[in-house]
Amino acid sequence: MRFIIAPSLLSADMAHMAEQVVAVQEAGADLLHFDIADGHFAPNLSFGPAMVAAIKKYAVKPIDVHLMVEDPAIFAPQFIEAGADNITFHPEAKSDPRALIAKIHELGATAGMSIRPETPADVLMPFADDLEMVMVLSVNPGFSGQKMLPHCLEKVSWLRKKLGNEFDIQVDGGVNSETVSDVARAGGNVVVAGAAVFGKPNLQEAIAELRSGLERNFAPGIG
Ligand code: DX5
Ligand code: ZN
Repeated sequence: MRFIIAPSLLSADMAHMAEQVVAVQEAGADLLHFDIADGHFAPNLSFGPAMVAAIKKYAVKPIDVHLMVEDPAIFAPQFIEAGADNITFHPEAKSDPRALIAKIHELGATAGMSIRPETPADVLMPFADDLEMVMVLSVNPGFSGQKMLPHCLEKVSWLRKKLGNEFDIQVDGGVNSETVSDVARAGGNVVVAGAAVFGKPNLQEAIAELRSGLERNFAPGIG
């Protein structure tokens, strides 16, 4: 099983994005998570494709774009063109998931699907064979620094049992040095962390702490 730490740039110092990306990569980040909120699907406005294109020049790690937008089919191609390596979108949004997964793959990116806290995990299953990752969003979409909604981890356990030990299951929202052990015990192996990375004085220590919490507690309980 691989363990992946994906700092969320939504928590970075937005006046110094390139420096923050370089710093977090040097500190041990595996994946750069960009939260795209459009003010409709999620009540915030964050980054457009131009930000991802600008950051691509500094990225040595893959760029993970989390589309919290009303119509992901419109934006997925723009973010792939800008340099996204993975696009994760929500089935609660407008676009037809199957067509969108095909489009993302055709354009050369990997595809993930994410469910909001109130969405049951079985919604993901018809698409799992065609996805490189599933994501359980463990806060309401839009903002960093929220508290994890613990019922979401039951969905992580359920998905881990269904999908087996090698599938990448990402958990996003409220992951910190304490909650990461619950995430790992539920079977999450890819964690997004905003406040728990950029809110800490030492990025390297923050990432190392999350990684060891994941590695020490990962126990999906598959017989
Ligand atoms: C929430 C976003 C998350 C968020 C995570 O809408 O999808 O990626 O930035 O931030 P923390 O780790 O601070 O909850
Ligand atoms: Zn996210």
